[in-house]
Amino acid sequence: MTGLYCEAAWQLAALPPGARVLDVATGAGALLSIALQDGADAIGIDFSPGMVRVAQERTAAIRTGERALVMDGQALDFVEASFDAAFSMFGVFMFPDPIAGFAEIARVLRPGGLAVVAVWENAGGAGPAILFQEAARRLFPDRPVPTPMARLFNSTSLLDQAFRQVGLEPQAVHSVERAWPAPPVEWFRDNAKLAFGWSPLWRDLDEDRRAAFADEAAALALNLTPEGIRSTALIGMARKSR
Ligand SMILES: C[S@@+](CC[C@H](N)C(=O)[O-])C[C@H]1O[C@@H](n2cnc3c(N)ncnc32)[C@H](O)[C@@H]1O
Repeated sequence: MTGLYCEAAWQLAALPPGARVLDVATGAGALLSIALQDGADAIGIDFSPGMVRVAQERTAAIRTGERALVMDGQALDFVEASFDAAFSMFGVFMFPDPIAGFAEIARVLRPGGLAVVAVWENAGGAGPAILFQEAARRLFPDRPVPTPMARLFNSTSLLDQAFRQVGLEPQAVHSVERAWPAPPVEWFRDNAKLAFGWSPLWRDLDEDRRAAFADEAAALALNLTPEGIRSTALIGMARKSR
């Protein structure tokens, strides 16, 4: 689902062939796969062994070797200056200590290396999450709308500030809007817990109010066009000074 945004980030980075690339919080390896397909010497890390298994299976079809490793993005097991570029697509903002994630990216980049960090512009995230957030806003206007991110970084100034905090020089923040394929209306009714069960708001709701919440999200989904749910990523780029 993040592939369209990873494709955009990869094109924007415009790295030379054979670049040494790290994908921090690789998940199912969306960016990692694109990088390997394009000839980069890429490796991905994620702290979820299940995600790493999926990413490794996916990359095995593209290139040999162990390309996905279980690792904490807040304490990377790589020496300084190991990579020409380090990406984190919708990753570091979920870490308990996101700035530690930014700092580790800065540490493992070589002088002149490129950092690419993608976040969602919307505080609720992207795709179906936007509809669930809107449903929460409508049904429970007095409650703060929950966000799954530890910190948002969802503006140029917030991203630039984080880069500067870890000694990187901000280069640009690109706004990338894509249509996220929408699941059918019934999916919203059946999967409210999957999509929102992590939130304090969900935990406070009784069964009736959870059902009403799922119905509200499904009602919003009725208005979606076949194109899907337009969702915007901010792709921040920064360089390590030489
Ligand atoms: C929203 S997913 C994004 C995955 C992928 N980068 C993509 O664009 O599809 C966030 C990922 O961050 C990983 N993650 C969360 N905290 C982490 C940490 N401290 N270290 C490494 N990975 C982490 C999760 O396991 C998950 O795979």
